[in-house]
Amino acid sequence: MSKVRVYELAKKLGISSKKLISILEELDVDIRNHMSSLEDDMAQLIMDLVSEEKGSKKTKNETPKTPEPPKNTEEVSTKPKIQKVVLPSKISIKDLGSRINIEPVKLIKKLMDFGLMVNINAEIDFESAKKLIKEFGYEAEEEREDELAELEKEEETRPEELKPRPPVVTVMGHVDHGKTTLLDAIRETNVAASEAGGITQHIGASQVEKDGKTIVFIDTPGHEAFTALRARGAKVTDIVVLVVAADDGVMPQTVEAINHAKAAGVPIIVAINKIDKPGANPERVKQQLSEYGLIPEEWGGDTIFVNVSAKNRIGIDTLLEMILLVAEMAELKADYNARASGVIIEAKLDKGRGPVATVLVQKGTLKVGDAIVAGPAYGKVRAMRDSRGRMVKSATPSIPVEVMGFSEVPSAGDVIRVVSSEKEAREIAEKYHEIHKEKENITTPKVSLDRIFDRI
Ligand code: GTP
Ligand code: MG
Repeated sequence: MSKVRVYELAKKLGISSKKLISILEELDVDIRNHMSSLEDDMAQLIMDLVSEEKGSKKTKNETPKTPEPPKNTEEVSTKPKIQKVVLPSKISIKDLGSRINIEPVKLIKKLMDFGLMVNINAEIDFESAKKLIKEFGYEAEEEREDELAELEKEEETRPEELKPRPPVVTVMGHVDHGKTTLLDAIRETNVAASEAGGITQHIGASQVEKDGKTIVFIDTPGHEAFTALRARGAKVTDIVVLVVAADDGVMPQTVEAINHAKAAGVPIIVAINKIDKPGANPERVKQQLSEYGLIPEEWGGDTIFVNVSAKNRIGIDTLLEMILLVAEMAELKADYNARASGVIIEAKLDKGRGPVATVLVQKGTLKVGDAIVAGPAYGKVRAMRDSRGRMVKSATPSIPVEVMGFSEVPSAGDVIRVVSSEKEAREIAEKYHEIHKEKENITTPKVSLDRIFDRI
């Protein structure tokens, strides 16, 4: 590779060597004096930077350019093959460069394409870093700043301890296609069968029995809740029941639900609802859904379709059987003896009982008296109720319970875990508060390259 001396480059750029050296120093390029050599591609970058800066000064009022895809395939193919990089919530350009082995100046240049002016020591947030290194073929993953990751490491999965657990099911579908009615039908059939006339307490999740097996339904998924839970890394659902009204067919939210389920890697069972209606056309629904890759078994695919009428309680038993079948194939297991952890499904401040949260236990067995922490909330499990409103002393994996005893109201999606003492729980919660306070105070220093080039 050919090289160019600093003074030669300065001449090309029409600036003094001294000025060029100060630019190079600012960009942390290792040079000694005006006789030092620069790699050709570095020289090219400096030239681009200077000319772009000059250009942008002329057209200052133009809106920043949107990021461009990599220019030529040759450039892309020479990039290293490494894919994932774990990054902290903020990182300097210099550190970022060394982590992915890319000259910081290249990163700075790319950031300029994004309309962001930063110097080498400026820190950018995770989202910016993610977007930036994507341009270089890397995928960023955010470091988990709480101590959860460490604690989880401690609690390595013990394969010999794994025992089957009930499936957790989410009902999704377009507005008015009958999700609530279907859940009611499932619950009522079940409640009626087991305890005639029993009243179901609403805790945001319900538990039904079928052929001696338990199925757990989350009542409040909605697309946003599902996305929020998933965005926070909480995989709560094992199976999605996609409700499609037979008289209406596939609608926008049906497609959204399919995309959510696919992104989460969750199997879908299709419940074609409202088959009692005169205009019902289940075959059309199958046809439409096959365009989204949901192909019925009778057409050679592997998606289970069940025709139901939530209103007339038709097909409910078959649907439950199919859920158990899919669950069996998924071989869902959990360690019942691990230190308990789970996820907050919903939470509220109850006038009489204080903060209450519905918890879906995912690992271990949650017991009354356990010291717990969930995001900023901590405490001791004072009492627990199951989805039928009965007081229970413990909850095993997949079982939803309403938990009382939190210091404050946690958020849906927060991970809840048992720790050794209430003191430890409080310390962790305090740390959480600290981190979040810090996070709010972080502003990305935007040091403009203008400052550097003003000296030209
Ligand atoms: P959102 O929560 O608003 O998204 O609606 P949903 O999907 O929960 O639908 P919901 O259960 O509220 O039902 C919407 C309407 O469809 C109601 O008027 C139900 O009575 C009616 N419905 C639901 N299932 C059936 C069914 O199987 N047959 C008939 N004929 N009507 C149904
Ligand atoms: Mg509803």
